[in-house]
Amino acid sequence: MSLPRGDGFIHLADYRPPAWRIPSAELQFELGPDATEVTARLALSPDPAQPGEALELDGEELELLAIALDGQPLPPERYDYDGRRLRVHGVAADCTLETRARIHPAANTRLEGLYRSGRLLLTQCEAEGFRRITFFADRPDVMPRWRIVLRADRAAYPVLLANGNPVSTRELGDGRHEATWENPHPTPAYLFAIAAGAMERVSSTLETMEGRRVELNIWAEPGDVARCAYALGAVERSLRWDERRFGRCYDLDVFNVVAAQDFTMGAMENKGLNIFNARYILADEATATDADFLAIESVVAHEYLHNWSGNRVTLRDWFQLSLKEGLTVFRDTEFSADLHSRALKRIEVVRLLRSRQFPEDAGALAHAVRPDRYREISNFYTMTIYEKGAEVIRVLHTLVGEAAFRAGMDRYFADNDGRAATLEDFLAAHAAASGRDLAQFARWYSQAGTPELHVTDAFDAATGDYTLTVTQNTPPTPGQPEKLPLLVPLRFALYDASGRAITAPPEADAVVHDGLAELTAPTHVLRWRGLGARPLPAFNQGFAAPVKLHFDYTVDQLARLARLERDPFNRWDLLQRLATDALLGAAHAEAATAALGDALADLLADASADPAFVAECLALPDFDTLAEALPEVDVDTLVARREELLDRLAEEQVEGLQARYDALADAARGGLGGEAMSARALRNACLAWLTRLDPEAKLAQAQFDAATTMTERLAALRCLLHFQAPGADAALQAFRDAHAQDPLVTDKWIGLVATRPDPEALDEVQALMATPWWKPANPNRVRALLGSFARSNPLGFHRRDGAGYRFVAGQVVALDAINPQVAARLLGGFESWRRWASPRRELAREALASLEGKLASPDGRDLLQRLLG
Ligand code: PHE
Ligand code: ZN
Repeated sequence: MSLPRGDGFIHLADYRPPAWRIPSAELQFELGPDATEVTARLALSPDPAQPGEALELDGEELELLAIALDGQPLPPERYDYDGRRLRVHGVAADCTLETRARIHPAANTRLEGLYRSGRLLLTQCEAEGFRRITFFADRPDVMPRWRIVLRADRAAYPVLLANGNPVSTRELGDGRHEATWENPHPTPAYLFAIAAGAMERVSSTLETMEGRRVELNIWAEPGDVARCAYALGAVERSLRWDERRFGRCYDLDVFNVVAAQDFTMGAMENKGLNIFNARYILADEATATDADFLAIESVVAHEYLHNWSGNRVTLRDWFQLSLKEGLTVFRDTEFSADLHSRALKRIEVVRLLRSRQFPEDAGALAHAVRPDRYREISNFYTMTIYEKGAEVIRVLHTLVGEAAFRAGMDRYFADNDGRAATLEDFLAAHAAASGRDLAQFARWYSQAGTPELHVTDAFDAATGDYTLTVTQNTPPTPGQPEKLPLLVPLRFALYDASGRAITAPPEADAVVHDGLAELTAPTHVLRWRGLGARPLPAFNQGFAAPVKLHFDYTVDQLARLARLERDPFNRWDLLQRLATDALLGAAHAEAATAALGDALADLLADASADPAFVAECLALPDFDTLAEALPEVDVDTLVARREELLDRLAEEQVEGLQARYDALADAARGGLGGEAMSARALRNACLAWLTRLDPEAKLAQAQFDAATTMTERLAALRCLLHFQAPGADAALQAFRDAHAQDPLVTDKWIGLVATRPDPEALDEVQALMATPWWKPANPNRVRALLGSFARSNPLGFHRRDGAGYRFVAGQVVALDAINPQVAARLLGGFESWRRWASPRRELAREALASLEGKLASPDGRDLLQRLLG
């Protein structure tokens, strides 16, 4: 790590190992909501390779109460502290530094460091929050073993948790008590955590493959503990899966998870003490949707799986962020795919990639999976680091195969256990295990932008020669005008006239094996000789590489392929392509619409098709995905076209939709089994289509009234509100009242109000801000109201008069003073502004320009500069 250069950026190239190591750290907390005192005793040891370096520690907004070196209080001339860095002068050898500092949890609205949520006190340290707790070398390559002593009033804080294993507890006599924890694994400060308060738990015990008995606990505020059982099961499944699939065991005697109502991100993988946003823990059928359950399971798995990919092997510096995040997303998606439907998981991931990561990679905030400079690391917890990072791991997996991939992972874990690693360490392990040179593959990490493959074909009827010419290019991104060719594994198949796959491999100027071409050059040619007729090609099955593939299919070809492809992901993808042509393909839009209608009719009539899969096919590409395919986005036209297509298809398919809706009624009734979830998914998709034809929204009203699960109730409420049914207001009020005490369910109806597809939705959003429902310090509430408005309400956010942009910009200013990371995420809604057609581009620029000089946080300022850059 290093300090910023004169340009204000921290550069990867400037990395230097820590000048001082901290082999062990002991912290004592005297906990209180208004003031907490933190005593830190650090064993410090200079790096022999860097003798004479000054001793400097991070410390942000700390009130320094006392400082001593080797037991002797330090006189003022021996140190200085400017509110950001503590410098201790005249030390050159091993020593013990003790500091005492005061912090103020209840006043901490940034939710970084130690803060209060409800009646709990808890911490969030990643990336650089630990320096808001005490003085420390707050960088991931400094990894002490920790001893943590917590003291607090027993009545208010009966449960005291920290990283590692519990060692001892005792009463202190004055109504206070104490708990001591020890974390035996070398752990960086960003994984430090404590939690204290009147929590209750659900728990279980199990024995790891290595024979260690582990206690698993999920902790929550007393009223919430009844909704933790599902998350506990998800922890058990994650632990077992990592043993089975990766041979990785849990390594402490307890695994604690805490649910907090106030949390900026989704969850945090602190060693032995994961802290979660309550929305990714609390669930029962009356308050959580099926999608919530699946998201909970996958986030629980994600955090659990970090114990190896992130904690046991951690990061050398923050440039390596995707080394833990991309890898752990890859691992958690494999977990979900192994446990449920692989095809449906792939569809979910590719949807997210296309609607959120591709636009990021094409917009003002584009950056490489491993950036080479940053001003503020908090702004790099992005779709690119997470989702593209996971896709790049999947590319590696595709290139080397499961067995070599597993061998590479084993080697990576073995070689780097207890270390702070780099991407190079990861690649070296995989290169050694697979015997492959991964030099070109590594470009995926340094080059931003979504690669595009253009494929053309030619058939010579006289000779039967068929060629595919594949060219690749990656468009320029901010700071990276020129791009080099990537190693792209391209899957392909050819079908003959009777629909059989042609198995003969092509002659090629690329490595080709098992239907996979390894593209390495700007252009490759694949040639088959002596074919009887022009074949039909198919590409990138399973979305093996995160690229945009262009091939000029006729509508007939697409429709035929959609029937030939057996893999459900590919069929879904071809229907998405047909829908995109129906919406954007001027020349054959009409033919594509007809073909799409036929395909959907077949699917609806096919009782053997998995209903959840049919539901995915009914969900056409969303606004963001479509917008990303256009050089310039005319919001009104795009939204109107999409609505027209949906109306028309609904009319054509009304019988099939109604029949399927009715037929699945029994299967949908209750329970979290795959079949019931799948039935509810399709019924809800049908309901949304049918409501287009039903101005009274009778069916939606009936479903709302009779619903026994949140999945059914919320879907019905969405239809009532978004189509402005006569019963909408009454339904909303009933829903609101029934769940007034539950912030997570309240977020759901607020999200529906904020996403009503109508420019006037802005008025309702503003009206809600004048009610007690508006809680700007609660990140979930901000996301429900403002995040969903800016990200998922194109007609509202992109109002023609610019009021949507001005409103969001104004809220960014207000939130920047409360929680800069939440504000910065909201600002990200402007990432594609340069592609918005006039007058919106100008209006957006004005709204952004109005923020200059108004954002106090480094997060907000960095993002604004990059947006306007
Ligand atoms: N590391 C967390 C995760 O992916 C995300 C996170 C980042 C949480 C920063 C809080 C702060 O799992
Ligand atoms: Zn993560």
